[in-house]
Amino acid sequence: MRLFLVGFMGSGKTTTGRKLARHLNYEFYDLDRLIEQQQEQTIPAIFEEVGETAFRRLEQQVLHQLLGHENVVVATGGGTPCFFDNIQKINAAATSIYLQASVHYLHYRLLQAKKPRPLLRNKTSTELLAYIESKLSQRRIFYEQAHLTVDANRLKHARIELLKFFTRPAS
Ligand code: S3P
Repeated sequence: MRLFLVGFMGSGKTTTGRKLARHLNYEFYDLDRLIEQQQEQTIPAIFEEVGETAFRRLEQQVLHQLLGHENVVVATGGGTPCFFDNIQKINAAATSIYLQASVHYLHYRLLQAKKPRPLLRNKTSTELLAYIESKLSQRRIFYEQAHLTVDANRLKHARIELLKFFTRPAS
């Protein structure tokens, strides 16, 4: 089985993915981390050096590598399912799970986040809120193509729901 987590920045894909993988005894991959390891550069540095368009191509390449792995949980980047035919490829090869979160929950989480995110750099709290609102409304149609949706606003609860779902006895 392959489980791919999709959703906006700050929706909790990495933490949820790591926990789910541990529980299922699967390998865990964070797509951003893998790009950074392969490029030997941080995501902000890649954005700065080659720009977003080139980053999206790298992201697509690493996604294709991961789609060939067995028994994995993958946390994708917030933009991964929204470019090229990535969401179709994910859905054809894996079970996709959308961690759905409200604009206000994402705003709260991203204001506290320590991870440097090039798309959010130098935004005031008000600008960040407006950005999340507008980006999420563009990206929702991609996220909503996922096979499963869980409510990330109640993240602990969502994780328990997922663990139960994927460890239920086969009927
Ligand atoms: C991005 C999300 C980031 C990372 C890059 C672009 C996006 O991943 O891939 O900064 O376009 O939403 P996270 O969702 O893990 O922050």
